[in-house]
Amino acid sequence: MYNLCFSLGGGCTAMIGSGAVSALGSCAKDLIPGRRLALVTDDGVPQQHVEKCLGLLRGASFSAEAVVIASGETNKNLAAVEGVYSALYEAGFTREDGVAGLGGGVALDIAGFAAATYLRGLRFISVPTTIIAQVDSAYGGKTGVDFKEGKNYVGLFSHPKAIVCDSDMLLTLPERERVCGMGEVIKYGAIADPSILAQAGGGIPGEKTVFRCASIKKRFVEADEFDTGVRRVLNFGHTFGHAYEASSGYSVSHGQAVAYGMLAAIRLGERLGVTRPGTYTAVYEACEACGLDTDWESGSRAALELISKDKKSDGNRIDMVLLERPGRPVRMKLAPEDIRARMI
Ligand SMILES: NC(=O)c1ccc[n+]([C@@H]2O[C@H](COP(=O)([O-])OP(=O)(O)OC[C@H]3O[C@@H](n4cnc5c(N)ncnc54)[C@H](O)[C@@H]3O)[C@@H](O)[C@H]2O)c1
Repeated sequence: MYNLCFSLGGGCTAMIGSGAVSALGSCAKDLIPGRRLALVTDDGVPQQHVEKCLGLLRGASFSAEAVVIASGETNKNLAAVEGVYSALYEAGFTREDGVAGLGGGVALDIAGFAAATYLRGLRFISVPTTIIAQVDSAYGGKTGVDFKEGKNYVGLFSHPKAIVCDSDMLLTLPERERVCGMGEVIKYGAIADPSILAQAGGGIPGEKTVFRCASIKKRFVEADEFDTGVRRVLNFGHTFGHAYEASSGYSVSHGQAVAYGMLAAIRLGERLGVTRPGTYTAVYEACEACGLDTDWESGSRAALELISKDKKSDGNRIDMVLLERPGRPVRMKLAPEDIRARMI
């Protein structure tokens, strides 16, 4: 079991490892003064995890109920947040009560945003259950939802009081989610720790790998809480990745889209003379070893159409993250037409 302490948001500890969820009840008791707790989850999260968390919370004397939203990126919107507000309102929640989010990045982004905004903020505990949520989305305080075709356009920074990251919960993931989740793991290898690339393979990541990814994220988010500088390196693969997701109508999952996006960004870096030979192969082979699809070129034309709408664009230029080599990211501002000219 690993403990990772974050200084942001008044301090927060992430408990990472097998059986970590058993601490949920005592942790909630320490952090939430009220006696009511809403467990916000989605309808794709196995019932056994929901029951386990409710049991632990009730065992710690909370009146705990599940608030179940519809799963999937297309449901990550303000309507879902409003549904959570309604449940909190009907149950008479006050500012002393709390919210726990249980699920992948979608459920946690919605639950965290609802908790941060209802009554100007309720205390929030995060229980990530997918690879992407355990290695990435649960840390750093970004919460929010999609708006029209803009991914994560509405949101705010708000940190959980605790993160309970139980690797046993990953065992119920369907094969496709296991594979796609490795997209974000490979990202951490590409930007900061090439040994992760060399070790990438099938199956779920061990708790040590989850801890290493979370530790890398901690380093970046603590250096730049509001994502105005060095934290943007975490967007490696995401400028193209978000465009792949949106242009597919979200039929391409986030992790798979990040994998396409990383390969596209490395090719762009090579064509700009920034990226050293061997970099593409290292990331490509890691993706292949995990079972990720590596045919990023088929969907690249449609993705490029959407690139100029990316949030990291300052109107004229896009803040792109490229790689000099594995473990050595570089940020470059590029005009959308320059990107298009080199990619088509
Ligand atoms: N806030 C951040 O910093 C941040 C960072 C990275 C990604 N994200 C967001 O995360 C989202 C992607 O997250 P995701 O890949 O976890 O997808 P997801 O949340 O859609 O989860 C994928 C599917 O797995 C199901 N599921 C969850 N846990 C399960 C389990 N243990 N066993 C079986 N099924 C389970 C879910 O119900 C869902 O159907 C995107 O919206 C992305 O924008 C946010």
